[in-house]
Amino acid sequence: MILSEEEWTKVIGVDLATHIVTLQSYVESFPHQSPAMATARRTSLEFGLEPVTLAVAQTLTWLATTVQAKAIVEVGTGAGVSTVALMDGMNDHGVLTTIDHEAEHHNAARRALQMAGYAPHRTRFITGEALNVLPKLTSEAYDLVFVDADYVHYPDYFEEGLKLLRPGGVLVLYHVLLNGQVADESHIDDDTIMLRDTLDVVRAMEDVRYSLAPLGDGLLMVTKVATQPSPDA
Ligand SMILES: C[S@@+](CC[C@H](N)C(=O)[O-])C[C@H]1O[C@@H](n2cnc3c(N)ncnc32)[C@H](O)[C@@H]1O
Repeated sequence: MILSEEEWTKVIGVDLATHIVTLQSYVESFPHQSPAMATARRTSLEFGLEPVTLAVAQTLTWLATTVQAKAIVEVGTGAGVSTVALMDGMNDHGVLTTIDHEAEHHNAARRALQMAGYAPHRTRFITGEALNVLPKLTSEAYDLVFVDADYVHYPDYFEEGLKLLRPGGVLVLYHVLLNGQVADESHIDDDTIMLRDTLDVVRAMEDVRYSLAPLGDGLLMVTKVATQPSPDA
């Protein structure tokens, strides 16, 4: 059952809009931000990019730790806010492969990782079009795939990302709510439709488990279910 705004307000006992703002600001002010991440965030904003929010960065760190990530793929490095977050949660010997078509963004991310104290051999920077790079990576070899790039290719990133995951690995897509547009049927531009289609595909799948969280601009987390060996095998 989907509740109207009025019904929600009755359930929670306060005005829904105020409640959401209070919750969001608390959740976003909760995480600690390292100096390296703060620097990467400043550079991102200078480039005119939209880096992951603090709460999303914290979730990425937590997820990388939870899946004991040794191998991660990131699509959309930007100036490295999410890259630092993923490295913060990864296994100490893990390697992160990060893809972006802008060399300038990669240089900024390299500086952020150096400031955070990560050895250069732990990050593989691939400068190029994500859709050309992803099919060349090894299938079922990664614990976590994070996507934060051009929305119009999200259905392809989803398909390619799933192929790269080991069973039990997690695919994370950012910006899936696109400023709320995805939830508002009056928006019918290409980006919104592509994101809505991606969510519908995930919802219809049987061999995944997922969570759609209203963190930052919307975080979709999808786990590829590990198939159980049959008892007769
Ligand atoms: C929003 S920014 C990523 C921000 C980053 N995840 C962070 O939290 O700091 C999106 C990035 O995706 C890159 N990008 C967009 N389309 C791409 C494509 N088709 N192939 C590779 N990179 C792409 C852009 O150059 C940009 O750096």
